[in-house]
Amino acid sequence: MSIPLLFGLLALTLGVVGDETPEAQSPQSACASLQSLLGATIVQTPAAGSSFQTIVGTPLNLANNELTPSCVVIPQNTSHVSTAMKAIYKTKSRYAVLAGGHSAMKGWNAVRDGVLIYFRDMKAVSYDSRKDTITMQPGVRWGEAVNTLAPLGVAPVGGRAAHVGSGFLLGGGISFLSPSLGYGADLYKELDVVLVDGSVVTATANNKYSDLFRALKGGANRFGIVTRYELYPFHSGKQSDKTWFGGTITYPGSFVEDVLRATARYTKNVDDPNATIFVTLEHIVNAPANKIDTVVQANIFYHGKSLPPKIFGDFLSIPASNKSLSALSYADIVANTFPANDDHGSTYLYGASTRRGGDEKAFVDALNFNLNFTESLKRDLAWTALTFTPIPDSQIKAGRARGGNAIDAPLTGGYAVMQIMQTLPVGVVDVPPAVANGKKKLLSQIKPVPGLPLFINECDALQNVFATYGGYDFLKKTYKKYDPTRFNIGHTDGPIGL
Ligand SMILES: Cc1cc2nc3c(=O)[nH]c(=O)nc-3n(C[C@H](O)[C@H](O)[C@H](O)COP(=O)(O)OP(=O)(O)OC[C@H]3O[C@@H](n4cnc5c(N)ncnc54)[C@H](O)[C@@H]3O)c2cc1C
Ligand SMILES: *[C@@H]1O[C@H](CO)[C@@H](O)[C@H](O)[C@H]1NC(C)=O
Ligand SMILES: *[C@@H]1O[C@H](CO)[C@@H](O)[C@H](O)[C@H]1NC(C)=O
Ligand SMILES: *[C@@H]1O[C@H](CO)[C@@H](O)[C@H](O)[C@H]1NC(C)=O
Ligand SMILES: *[C@@H]1O[C@H](CO)[C@@H](O)[C@H](O)[C@H]1NC(C)=O
Repeated sequence: MSIPLLFGLLALTLGVVGDETPEAQSPQSACASLQSLLGATIVQTPAAGSSFQTIVGTPLNLANNELTPSCVVIPQNTSHVSTAMKAIYKTKSRYAVLAGGHSAMKGWNAVRDGVLIYFRDMKAVSYDSRKDTITMQPGVRWGEAVNTLAPLGVAPVGGRAAHVGSGFLLGGGISFLSPSLGYGADLYKELDVVLVDGSVVTATANNKYSDLFRALKGGANRFGIVTRYELYPFHSGKQSDKTWFGGTITYPGSFVEDVLRATARYTKNVDDPNATIFVTLEHIVNAPANKIDTVVQANIFYHGKSLPPKIFGDFLSIPASNKSLSALSYADIVANTFPANDDHGSTYLYGASTRRGGDEKAFVDALNFNLNFTESLKRDLAWTALTFTPIPDSQIKAGRARGGNAIDAPLTGGYAVMQIMQTLPVGVVDVPPAVANGKKKLLSQIKPVPGLPLFINECDALQNVFATYGGYDFLKKTYKKYDPTRFNIGHTDGPIGL
């Protein structure tokens, strides 16, 4: 549909004659005109839409289930997204985009009194062996993509949890495959993008949208809506090809410091792209006993026949309460790591920090700060967690070899990103002021290392993650070019700093 025709239709629907009639500018008017343009199946409202309530409940974070939009647009193709953005832009409505729903940040995938675009019906994933690329629509989740493609011997460089969606890529995306292939976003070949005014462009590393292409590698939801990802694949082999070895080791809380020291050393010493780990510790508030239990897990994998002792010896020698290690396919790893971990019903809070490889003291300090935080707020929390993921130089070099990303991390000989997570008791939506304040203090205690980029997929909404990117100035310049009226920042929640 041409722009003049669309605007004509909108004007008709809204009863607007001139360009700017303030009282007509509301999400309701955007929803009404979209419903007449796209129909009541694609554009659903609480009154008319059978899927409306289910969709509102889709985000994992309870805090986002509380934000009820004026309508939900369920596009079937790029044109529908373009039509939606044109109406949103024209009526100056608030909006949000929902893919897999795993963002913890309030308002990043849900909107109160605005237009929600949900990719439920754009879930296709395919592999073209001639071009050797995977094409994905944004509604697919990583477990589905991996299972669909495993018979063809390929996999996308996607999430470590099967239920996470494609929004992962826009934040960079840390995969089990990242040490060898880079961030998930480093594997982009071509992107279809609906810009904020509804225009559609195809961005590649070499065309006139190459700046947009790079900005979408870490720029999160600020640079447009991606409706098609064409990605370079990982040649994973099939489900029956058990070419990996590894799994999960669980340690008793009494060994938590040893595990963290081992993680600090691993972060500095290991730059073998076939090795991949993450380490999580949880402080669980055991309400009846009013005490805190600590559980530590190392997820360790090697692309090879066994776990080389030189790389994993520390983790293997610390006394464990449970070891589940075996030969695995890549699809097994993705399916097993977070089995059915889709815990709706709780409000989650994230935060991000970094640790220099080898700095054992800084790893252990983070634990103690978090333990004290959890202890002092245990009446208001269900559990807290710290997750450490090493970012080896091999990962950064792999990204640079594909043209680089907006994160533009420096080569330091290995650092770790940290996720600092709190979960409120089931059903509690509002963050008590004591928790909000305690968390601010905690984030100031578990200080990030200056010069190392924070990871936006795991941040607190108040953290200026973009400012920690090597590509911050590039990102600001590119944002200004593609959204000169700052419509996105004014009308949808997302990362600060642009
Ligand atoms: C259990 C769990 C495990 C996780 N594991 C990992 C991990 O291993 N590695 C990692 O990097 N992250 C991980 N994350 C974080 C996760 O990648 C991010 O929360 C990511 O943003 C989720 O994407 P989504 O599509 O599921 O979520 P959504 O909340 O639907 O989307 C995330 C953000 O991206 C925007 N967005 C989504 N699709 C588009 C699009 N097509 N165009 C424009 N904007 C869009 C949304 O508006 C939202 O702001 C994990 C999270 C959880 C809860
Ligand atoms: C999108 O789908 C509509 C049908 O709902 C169709 O008319 C239109 O041509 C499609 N657009 C594209 C680009 O495929
Ligand atoms: C990584 O593993 C692959 C497959 O097992 C192997 O071909 C490659 O040589 C390994 N790379 C390194 C650096 O060991
Ligand atoms: C050990 O871990 C495996 C795999 O995660 C699990 O199935 C099993 O129940 C665990 N055993 C114990 C004793 O916790
Ligand atoms: C944690 O609390 C204990 C007891 O209140 C205190 O002695 C210790 O210094 C605190 N540790 C940190 C890292 O804040």
